[in-house]
Amino acid sequence: MTRKKVYITRKIDDKAIEYLCERFEVDINLEERIPEKEELINKTRDCDALLCLLSDEIDAALMDECKKLKIIANYAVGYNNIDISAARERNIVVTNTPDVLTDATAELTLALLFSAARRIVEGDRFTRGNKFKLWSPTLMLGQDICKKTLGVIGAGRIGKAFVKKTLGLEMKVLYNNRSRDLAFETETKAEYVSLDELLKESDFISIHVPLTSETKHMLGKREFEMMKKSAILINTSRGPVVDEVALMEALSSGEIWSAGLDVYEREPLIEEGLLALNNVVLLPHIGSATFDTRANMAMMAALNIEAVLNGAKGINEVV
Ligand code: GLV
Ligand code: GLV
Repeated sequence: MTRKKVYITRKIDDKAIEYLCERFEVDINLEERIPEKEELINKTRDCDALLCLLSDEIDAALMDECKKLKIIANYAVGYNNIDISAARERNIVVTNTPDVLTDATAELTLALLFSAARRIVEGDRFTRGNKFKLWSPTLMLGQDICKKTLGVIGAGRIGKAFVKKTLGLEMKVLYNNRSRDLAFETETKAEYVSLDELLKESDFISIHVPLTSETKHMLGKREFEMMKKSAILINTSRGPVVDEVALMEALSSGEIWSAGLDVYEREPLIEEGLLALNNVVLLPHIGSATFDTRANMAMMAALNIEAVLNGAKGINEVV
């Protein structure tokens, strides 16, 4: 029997690759670059499964050229890089990697909150720049975190995990989501509010929504104007949820106090004005980037491929 074929768009954890190689014929792009559109189609054309990253755009044109494709296993929890309705119409299963990266991403959100509030990265630059000459009562003043108001936009797995990790900080928690989650409210004392109320009342605002046509540019000029001048915005979800030019303007004019970003509107490009600002912490989309989490994501994608190519249901189907 000929072995089924899998194309992997980048090098991921070895164990997952070995697991797939033991079962299928595997081709993999080992170079640190995103495969070109044509190359991706050519590599996937005869494949039964595609294991791709969030930086690979998987559209209807690719699906039409790859007639044998049964499953697209995304190595990410977010799947806005895949044309989901096109996959559904063509009966191609799409899977993602939920749960395994929830804690890592929630932890990075905490790290960004502390970094932005206490000017950790700016302070490091200052110290390395040999500017620490004198202890001063006014040097690098930041914001208290404890007992402030935290506003969480999106209460899915990651948003909720983030709130639970903040409980020791005794913050008042406001959240906005498509629907209320009473169990979450009971467990964390989080209070469900409208988006506008959340924006007006919160000291820290953290975004945890998926990128969809409804959430694109959910935060722009109008929303920054509603926030406190002392507000801190954290985004570890998807860049296009925030109007990045409007954010840059709000940060440089003092409309809001600071921000911590892991994601960008035109990743890996970053709005140039942001790079010049001291009141923003910029990370290279590393929410899930821990050794264990990345290994778990890789194995989860591999297990989804195995299931579907063996005729079973995908374990983490989103389509
Ligand atoms: C990372 O951004 C992911 O969606 O997994
Ligand atoms: C992602 O897994 C989320 O639901 O927040």
